[in-house]
Amino acid sequence: FPSAFFSLLLVNMSLKYLKRSFLALCMLSVIIMTWYMTLPSHTVIEHTNWMYFYEYEPVYKQNFLFTLQGDLKCKDTPPFLVILVSSQPTDVEARQAIRVTWGSKKFWRDYQVLILFLLGQGAEREDSLDVLSIDDESILYGDIIRQDFMDTYDNLTLKTIMAFRWVSEFCSNAKYVMKADSDIFINTGNLVKFLQNVNSSDSFFTGYPLIDNFSYRGFYRKTYISYDEYPFKVYPPYCSGMGYILDGKLALRIYEMMSHIKPIKFEDVYVGICLNVLKVNLYIPEDTQLFFLYKINFDICKYRHLIAVHGISSSEIIRFWHDLTDTSLICH
Ligand SMILES: *[C@@H]1O[C@H](CO)[C@@H](O)[C@H](O)[C@H]1NC(C)=O
Ligand SMILES: *[C@@H]1O[C@H](CO)[C@@H](O)[C@H](O)[C@H]1NC(C)=O
Ligand SMILES: *[C@@H]1O[C@H](CO)[C@@H](O)[C@H](O)[C@H]1NC(C)=O
Repeated sequence: FPSAFFSLLLVNMSLKYLKRSFLALCMLSVIIMTWYMTLPSHTVIEHTNWMYFYEYEPVYKQNFLFTLQGDLKCKDTPPFLVILVSSQPTDVEARQAIRVTWGSKKFWRDYQVLILFLLGQGAEREDSLDVLSIDDESILYGDIIRQDFMDTYDNLTLKTIMAFRWVSEFCSNAKYVMKADSDIFINTGNLVKFLQNVNSSDSFFTGYPLIDNFSYRGFYRKTYISYDEYPFKVYPPYCSGMGYILDGKLALRIYEMMSHIKPIKFEDVYVGICLNVLKVNLYIPEDTQLFFLYKINFDICKYRHLIAVHGISSSEIIRFWHDLTDTSLICH
């Protein structure tokens, strides 16, 4: 009798255990199913159609106000090159570094080069008393362009649209335009020489080319893009936002096109979409030692040859420039 009793007890217990496991499994699957159903329907569109972003009416025209326009030097003489550097209000150090290094000369081989900074509106406290305010900086250097949108990472595309609008409205006679990031080192003399030698055409667009770059849907917020914002698998061919250079006339066409194309988070991809709708091909330099997407350590031979390198801090910009202009350094 006792052994029968114990086996009955055992069966009873394992049944209970089974029931519990079953219930737990049921609950788990319900949870998984609801989670799955609340996910956005993520259908990647394989076949890319750039006209997807195009609206016939200029519904995407941005109407932010210019609160600073820079000293308008374009009126007097048409500049050969205008470099517009994307910069954050607090980043006065980076602007200073550029002003005393690759942006220090107004003329290179008799060609006029203008350098201006692109800013949005910073938070109030950034205008505190212990640092040079943006308005003071603007009075001092006359090289700040600003509109009244919030200066955030996700608003970088608005900054680029501002750059193209500024060129269209205030500097439409520039021969070439470059948009650059502030952590870039430019060998300005080489850039001017390069532009003198290219076949000038009103569809000239160059920089560090990114062909068949994929849209990223993972967890890293900085490079993530939603399916809503961008439903395709690959990006159009474009040039990295570190620094792209284009013909001044093309800048006007791109600005016009921007009012028809929905802005997306990545400004360089956005410009790439505009180029594709305009049917403009990138000019890819044969020499692969001109544009560097990632930092390379200072090497006198490499730096005397290159045009632009990305990922260089303000203090490095100053140090590298000092070494680059040091005539006692020889490239063997
Ligand atoms: C971009 O700027 C606008 C205008 O200032 C602001 O309303 C918006 O919140 C900003 N967007 C992001 C993502 O920061
Ligand atoms: C410019 O065009 C000429 C003639 O079409 C060609 O021979 C030359 O290679 C081109 N130069 C560059 C830098 O593309
Ligand atoms: C590809 O695009 C992402 C934006 O989604 C960008 O952050 C990334 O730098 C690009 N890839 C390369 C190799 O630059």
